[in-house]
Amino acid sequence: MKILVLGSGGREHALAWKLHESQQMEELYCAPGNAGIAQEAECIAIDLAQTKAIVELAKQLRADLTIVGPEAPLVAGVVDEFEKEGLAIIGPSKAASRLEGSKIFSKEFMRRHGIPTARFEVAGNIEDALHALARFPLPVVVKADGLAAGKGVVVAHTHEEAEQAVEDFMRRKTLGSAGDRVVIEECLKGEETSFIVLTDGRGILPLVPTQDHKALLDGDQGPNTGGMGAYSDDSILSEPLHDEILRSIVAPTLAGMEMEGSPYRGFLYCGLMMTASGPMLLEYNVRLGDPEAQPILMRLRSDLADLLKASREGQLASVDVHWSPNPAVCVVLTSRGYPAKPEVDKTITGYESVEALGGVKIFHAATRVRDHQLFTAGGRVMGVTAIAEDLPSAIQRAYAGVNKLQFEGMHYRKDIGAKALQRVEKPPAPKRVRAAKGERPSSRK
Ligand code: AMP
Ligand code: GLY
Repeated sequence: MKILVLGSGGREHALAWKLHESQQMEELYCAPGNAGIAQEAECIAIDLAQTKAIVELAKQLRADLTIVGPEAPLVAGVVDEFEKEGLAIIGPSKAASRLEGSKIFSKEFMRRHGIPTARFEVAGNIEDALHALARFPLPVVVKADGLAAGKGVVVAHTHEEAEQAVEDFMRRKTLGSAGDRVVIEECLKGEETSFIVLTDGRGILPLVPTQDHKALLDGDQGPNTGGMGAYSDDSILSEPLHDEILRSIVAPTLAGMEMEGSPYRGFLYCGLMMTASGPMLLEYNVRLGDPEAQPILMRLRSDLADLLKASREGQLASVDVHWSPNPAVCVVLTSRGYPAKPEVDKTITGYESVEALGGVKIFHAATRVRDHQLFTAGGRVMGVTAIAEDLPSAIQRAYAGVNKLQFEGMHYRKDIGAKALQRVEKPPAPKRVRAAKGERPSSRK
C-alpha cells in the first residue's frame, strides 16, 4: 500500500511510525512532516490550508489511502474534495466536521440528541453574552464558537475573568472570526478522559482510553495548552463506564449525524468529564488527539494499515484489534514561552541515547534538521513515550528518556500520570473491550 499522512506533529509521527512497521506498507509519505517523521516516511513540504494542492499531491503520489492528522483540513472540507475525485481518505466530511469546527453546532447537536453535556447558552453579541453570564454560577466557562487551536476556552473563576474572555473574543477579536459568537457554559467537576473511536459509519472500534494533561504546569496549573502529556491505562475506565459512554454518547452521536444527513466516518474523539452523575461530553474532536495518539498507538499490536483499510472499505465491524495490556505514557517537552510565544531554533542534544533505554520512543513535533543538527521549531517540540508492564515503570521509563534530552528553555510537566497512580493502587475489575451496534468484540491480548 502507498499511504499519505497529513500533518507535522507528534500524533502524525506516531501514525507514521506504526504504519512504517506494517507488512502492507510499500511507500509511506507525510506532508509536511518533521525531522522525526523523516526517519519513517518521505516528507513533502505542503501548506495544509491549500486543499486543492493536497488532492493534487495524493494523485501525483498515487496514494492508496490518505490519513488526516489535524482538524483544520477536515473542517475546510478536504475529505469532500478527495471523494469528488474518487480518492480514498480517512476522516469526516466537511458537514460532519462541524462537530469540532463549531462549538455552537456541537452543543446544539448534543441537546437535540439527548447527549449528556453541561448546561449552556449561545450568544451572538456582547450584550447577550454578559446577560447570559449572570445566569450561571462561578466558575463559568466561556467558549469561542470557531477553531482556536486550544485557545478558545476560558474557565473563569471570577466575574471579571469571564467578562474579560467575552471582551477578548467578541470585541478585541483575539481569535478573529472564531470569536464572533460564544457559548457560555456551566463548569463541570470531575476527572477528564479522552475516549476515541474509529468508525466507518457502521462498525465502531473503540481505542484504549487516555487521559490528557492540558494545563502547562504541574498540578493542572497555568494556561491551557494543546496537551503536555498523556497516558493510556485500562484503569482509566471500568467496563460499565466504558459501555455507558458507548451507549449514551458515541452511539447517539453517530445515529444523530446519520439522521441529520451527515454520516460520520473517521476518528471521533469525545472529551469527557467523569462527573458524580456519570460521563458528560465536554467537546468533540474530529480526529485523533495529540498527545493521546502517542500512548494509544504505542499500545496497538494490530497492523494499523489493516485497520485503516478495513475502515475505508466499511469492514471495521469484522476486525479484531489487539492491544498491549501494558500502560503507556507520553511526556511532552515544550519551548520556553509556550503556549503564548515559544522560542525556536535551540539545539537539541541527547536524543541519540533515549531509545536505547528500551520501550521508549521519541515522537517529534516541532523539530527540524540543519547541518546535521537537530533544532527546535515551535512550542511542542517532542514527546517521550514509554511502555512498560505497569504504570509506575512506564512513568519512570518516560522520565528516564526525558532526563537525557536537553535544549535551552526546555520545559515539561513532572506529574504526567500521577493521578492514575492513586487509582492503580485500587484497580477496578478487569474489563472486556466491547464494541457497539452488534459488531464482534475486539480482543485485548
Ligand atoms: P476544549 O477546547 O473544548 O477542549 O476545552 C478545553 C478544556 O477546557 C477542556 O479539556 C476542559 O479542561 C475545559 N472545559 C471545557 N468545558 C468545560 C466545562 N463545561 N467544565 C469544565 N471544564 C471545561
Ligand atoms: N490533546 C487534546 C487534543 O488533541 O485536542
